[in-house]
Amino acid sequence: MHQFSGQVADVETLGPALHVLWLVAPEFLAMGSGQFVLARCSESFDPLLRRGLSLHQRRADGAHGFLFGTSKAWGRWLAARRPGDHVDLIGPLGRGFRREPTAHRLLMIAEGLGIAPLVALAEEAVAAGCTVTLLQEAPTASRLYPRQRLPEAVRVVSYTADGSAGRPGRVLDDLVEWQEAADQLFIAGSARLLADLRVRLAPVAARLPVQVMVEERMACGVGACLGCVVFTVEGPVASCVEGPVFDLWRLAG
Ligand code: FES
Repeated sequence: MHQFSGQVADVETLGPALHVLWLVAPEFLAMGSGQFVLARCSESFDPLLRRGLSLHQRRADGAHGFLFGTSKAWGRWLAARRPGDHVDLIGPLGRGFRREPTAHRLLMIAEGLGIAPLVALAEEAVAAGCTVTLLQEAPTASRLYPRQRLPEAVRVVSYTADGSAGRPGRVLDDLVEWQEAADQLFIAGSARLLADLRVRLAPVAARLPVQVMVEERMACGVGACLGCVVFTVEGPVASCVEGPVFDLWRLAG
């Protein structure tokens, strides 16, 4: 982990408030899905806190992509970067997703921007010969991640709360159907989704390894500020160091 500069290759617009920042730096080559960098999203120290960005995609030209929204000022600052600009970064940080060597049928569940690290994981898994099903849920069609950005080999099933695209309702409605065909499960979404899935998955805890990415706000990124503490069965831990990816059953319920 160290401080470095990422050179902006370009900023890609995926939707009205969704973008991918493409950066170039040798440090990204050691970065796995689920790991993150802390970005300074201004030219000054105001705001003081950096923002965590998870690895989202890799491109053939060597650029690495980071998905972000523009609902907050820091996102709008990133969206205004131009090719050749530099972004001040710290990282790579944290522990990312780990595929079980025996797992070949992977199920992924994404909610909102939680899809960012799962796209990187899905691409890695497909390249390694795994079968990948990715379930994404959103309030409405315009908030879904564009299917065409994922490898064709990934089976993508979308759920919308208002029924405007894909299946109406929530992933939870069909969870039994999906989990039976999987030998490892990966989840990235809100604390509410994780809590709901924890209850639904309890009957298969002994059979199905489940990794989850928690959405704690990262400040220092090195375990010093304790701003990202999560509670595990062994007690509180800093998710920026021990996570942000955890075994679901290690987290305290
Ligand atoms: S962000 Fe400071 S301890 Fe994790």
